[in-house]
Amino acid sequence: MGESLVGIIGWPVSHSQSPKMHSYAFSKLGLFDWRYLFLPVDIAPKHRLQEAVFGLRALNFVGANITVPHKEAVLPLMDSLSDEALCIGAVNTIHIKDGQLLGHNTDAPGFVNDLLEQGIDISAMKVLLLGAGGSARAITYGLLAHGCKSITILNRTEEKALVIAKAMSQRFSESLVKTAALDFSNIKNNAHADLIINTTSIGLTDLSAMPWDPQIHFSSSQVVYDIIYGKKTKFLQHASLSQARAIDGLGMLIHQGALAFSIWTGLKAPVQIMKDCFKV
Ligand code: ATR
Repeated sequence: MGESLVGIIGWPVSHSQSPKMHSYAFSKLGLFDWRYLFLPVDIAPKHRLQEAVFGLRALNFVGANITVPHKEAVLPLMDSLSDEALCIGAVNTIHIKDGQLLGHNTDAPGFVNDLLEQGIDISAMKVLLLGAGGSARAITYGLLAHGCKSITILNRTEEKALVIAKAMSQRFSESLVKTAALDFSNIKNNAHADLIINTTSIGLTDLSAMPWDPQIHFSSSQVVYDIIYGKKTKFLQHASLSQARAIDGLGMLIHQGALAFSIWTGLKAPVQIMKDCFKV
């Protein structure tokens, strides 16, 4: 038997913490023949993604993570899709089994598992979601699948929020997803939500920017979650200053990664080991 290969396809991927996290778990669990590789695949030319994904199969990979900007484009390349990946319309984990490409989405349960672990009961919460990209779709699915009844999505391009609401209403008939444009008055009107989640990329590269108006403050009973990890965004700093509970995206990263690890290896998701990886 040779090595068992997995990796992360994205563009860029050099900043990703997934290789470090998975390699740490492999070594702690004695999986010494497993390797997790950086697999940068550009968006142009367009056929590169297909070549790369089919190349994984040719090279006997066990699977891969897929990240920005390929999570949606990779979907039609799969031989089959999990329920989650199909409804979300995005794949973040591929498992290659008997020559078949199986597409999963562990972002949705990963996000929910992080909330549950933090003792946050989403079933009774009013949620405000900022952004309507692939991550927002996964998070909306995860929240609805765990009994959340009220989600408002605000996005710069409102039509994209509407597309998510429509897709979810087919799957979760009694849940309520409202949409509006991401502007001052809509932020103000929805600022009282119990849980406010930023999934926009604002704050990712420009540390002085946030998808929120600085005049609107939070209260100590609110939870503010930013899926960006590895830095405290201006949005989370603003939330902390208002005494709200501020949570960054590291927990989501760990939980989605632990679930992918479990899909590939068949072992229990190594959540604690992956957490420890960021403490050393
Ligand atoms: P991901 O897969 O991580 O969700 P994405 O699909 O590229 O990434 O989505 C990025 C999100 O950030 C989108 O909601 C995008 O808004 P649009 O749908 O209008 O493009 C949002 N976003 C990025 N830059 C933004 C900006 N400067 N102002 C407002 N929203 C922004």
